[in-house]
Amino acid sequence: MARRPGPAPRSGRVPRPRRPGAPVRAAPRGAIGLRRATVADLPLLVRHRRGMWTDIGGRSPRVLDRADPVYRRWARREMGAGRLLGLVAEDRSGRAAASGALWIAPAHPRPGVFARLTAPYVMSMYTEPEFRRRGAASRIVRWMVRWARDHGYPRIYLNASTMGRPVYARLGFVPGNEMRLDLHPARRRRSGRAGRRR
Ligand SMILES: CC(C)(COP(=O)(O)OP(=O)(O)OC[C@H]1O[C@@H](n2cnc3c(N)ncnc32)[C@H](O)[C@@H]1OP(=O)(O)O)[C@@H](O)C(=O)NCCC(=O)NCCS
Repeated sequence: MARRPGPAPRSGRVPRPRRPGAPVRAAPRGAIGLRRATVADLPLLVRHRRGMWTDIGGRSPRVLDRADPVYRRWARREMGAGRLLGLVAEDRSGRAAASGALWIAPAHPRPGVFARLTAPYVMSMYTEPEFRRRGAASRIVRWMVRWARDHGYPRIYLNASTMGRPVYARLGFVPGNEMRLDLHPARRRRSGRAGRRR
């Protein structure tokens, strides 16, 4: 039977960022454990969030430099309020392999099962390149799905990147009926390119 989600001890260890262009060597295979993040993990969560945007592409380092402290402040506040649940996957030595966050986002009331004023939203999913394709992201998302189910939510949401889409699809996520109209000219030009946006 699947292990129940729950807190685990934290190491707060932040791996050094990869040199751009450095070859990616697979990390030695071994058990990867999951734990809840705390505010001590904010440097890691911010770095992983930036890694996510970098891999998705289309944002300059300058834009990301500006976004990092904003995300850090926002994540600290939301974690403090209990609305942002961070998850860290790490190997036996405490080296962070992946992370992600579940944001209990505000929602408008709808009739029926979607009457709740909050909705769980999966975000900031990132796996260190050398730890990819070992199931770390899938484990994190499965934890979130269990958490949401255990807390009585009828649905869990996300915006998928091109890399993330197959991972979520395998876990049962399906595309929704959301539409959008890009109002910023640069965004409108880019929006034709599939999978660039989150
Ligand atoms: C998307 C991302 C988070 C996935 O992370 P990951 O830890 O490699 O994901 P998983 O290992 O759970 O699944 C990835 C693939 O590995 C496969 N896999 C899982 N466990 C495996 C194992 N033990 N051995 C071999 N392959 C395995 C899965 O089947 C999956 O294959 P698929 O893509 O063909 O479906 C990662 O690629 C990433 O950080 N990308 C850049 C940022 C990004 O796009 N984030 C998502 C934003 S929505």
